[in-house]
Amino acid sequence: SVSSQSTFKVLGRIEDFAPGSVTAFRIDRLYLICADDGGLIAVSLQCTHLGCAVSWNKDKEEFECPCHASSFNKMGEVISPPAPRALDVYPLKVEGGMVEVDLNNKSKRKGFKTSQLIYA
Ligand code: FES
Repeated sequence: SVSSQSTFKVLGRIEDFAPGSVTAFRIDRLYLICADDGGLIAVSLQCTHLGCAVSWNKDKEEFECPCHASSFNKMGEVISPPAPRALDVYPLKVEGGMVEVDLNNKSKRKGFKTSQLIYA
């Protein structure tokens, strides 16, 4: 597949993202999720149904779409339709203690795999 040129943008320092946390980056339209083991994944906040912005429900540990009630688990996998697939992901890297995201190379996926997590 053809991918756009990588342009990594700094999201913050690695220690800003505690294990178990979900951090919204509204302007960049993504959530940075830190798994319990410290692994990081960046998911698009756009619902895979018709593109509404999903919000993080901290109590239920779910992403919820306000438009047609799709929901997604913490790693962005579909819990409730009509969303047809997991939330899209962005490449991440950790360099010099900083977490960086490549906003030009969003990709689709069927579901979550541990190989999608990146570590410092
Ligand atoms: Fe999210 Fe329809 S746009 S459920």
